[in-house]
Amino acid sequence: MKVQDAIRQRRSIREYTEKIPADEKINKVLEAGSWAPSGLNNQPWKFKVLKADKKEGLAKFTKYGDAVKSAPIAICVFLDNGRTYNREKDIMAIGACIQNMLLEAYEAGLGTCWLGEILNRRKEVEKYLETDSDYELMAVITLGYPDEEATKGCRRALKGFILK
Ligand SMILES: Cc1cc2nc3c(=O)[nH]c(=O)nc-3n(C[C@H](O)[C@H](O)[C@H](O)COP(=O)(O)O)c2cc1C
Repeated sequence: MKVQDAIRQRRSIREYTEKIPADEKINKVLEAGSWAPSGLNNQPWKFKVLKADKKEGLAKFTKYGDAVKSAPIAICVFLDNGRTYNREKDIMAIGACIQNMLLEAYEAGLGTCWLGEILNRRKEVEKYLETDSDYELMAVITLGYPDEEATKGCRRALKGFILK
């Protein structure tokens, strides 16, 4: 698959089949995340892969809980504050890392949804996940085989983004 096709055709998926992606596929997605650029190449990310009961329990922390319940996998993405050098740039690197994972998953025939609303309850979620206090939740990515037709997607016209 061409990068240009993955960028344009990937859509957020919120309904999934019950089929569980193989660990190999999940690891490829995580590895794609780890190939993202980061300032000083500090790679300030950590991942936690949730399945089954632990993943189900995450659903109650977001109004997008139905997507969490439907997906067989949820990947929690953290900023590793033990590796940060500049908060703003480190958070940008996390965004690049997440986008890499979404695109890799798409190429592998998997659907994803980047969940940010769950951060409204970040502290509670971090407690639930029992992660080290250095790790700050940045997003949850739902992952699995799509069980919905992807929409065509829409974006504003390019000229609206270009400053004169
Ligand atoms: C930072 C961020 C936070 C998001 N949070 C949520 C979320 O909490 N729930 C959700 O269903 N989608 C969430 N999304 C997905 C967006 O709604 C989606 O990317 C956007 O509508 C464009 O649709 P597309 O991904 O299908 O192209 C988030 C996306 C980003 C980048």
